[in-house]
Amino acid sequence: MNDAATAEYWDQRYAHPNHVYGYRPNDFLKLQSRFLGPASRILALCDGECRNGVWLAEQGHDVVSVDLSAVGLAKGRALATERGVAIETWHVDLADWVGMPGPDRPWDAVVAVFTYLPSALRRDVAAEATRQAARGAVLIAEEFTPAQPSMGTGGPTDPDLLVTRGAAADEWRGWNPDVRLTERRLFEGMDHQGLASVVQVLGLRA
Ligand SMILES: C[S@@+](CC[C@H](N)C(=O)[O-])C[C@H]1O[C@@H](n2cnc3c(N)ncnc32)[C@H](O)[C@@H]1O
Repeated sequence: MNDAATAEYWDQRYAHPNHVYGYRPNDFLKLQSRFLGPASRILALCDGECRNGVWLAEQGHDVVSVDLSAVGLAKGRALATERGVAIETWHVDLADWVGMPGPDRPWDAVVAVFTYLPSALRRDVAAEATRQAARGAVLIAEEFTPAQPSMGTGGPTDPDLLVTRGAAADEWRGWNPDVRLTERRLFEGMDHQGLASVVQVLGLRA
């Protein structure tokens, strides 16, 4: 992929008629969603075309999907309508979101799936999400590791967008995170297909 993290780049990616990352939720999110309390208020970071946000709304959660791409979020809202659920979408660059006043009600959960954020921003976003989350909130995150480019199955190639186990543990340290490095088969849309190297994080806000 082109690693340029601009709104124009992502709008162009999402101009494709299909959902680039598919219509089903991320596998790790689906598996770990059993830890979410009923009707959780969930922050879905970098939710793109909102496959994850819409699926969470279908499970009865109250979701805010945040992304840089207006085109992606519009596709997400259309998917929500098609599925008979509602999600809130915030069209914002997370670089601007960091330091904004927090929500009226702290988040019950934070979801960060394949965010492709540069490391400095990723750290700031994790710190802000940590600050805004309720005690006992659930964190579910999955990112590509530095081994991913050699797998040839999608994901960023810029090393700064790839996440080591140590970085994930440090960025999400306020959540007593369980961090695993693993290889798994991805079938998540046109861009994420095949054996992939990922870091998975499950946490509970301390
Ligand atoms: C690989 S896509 C993943 C989308 C979604 N999480 C999924 O798994 O289907 C990365 C997403 O991060 C978003 N993104 C990248 N940089 C961002 C930023 N600075 N602020 C907000 N969103 C950003 C992009 O617009 C894109 O939708």
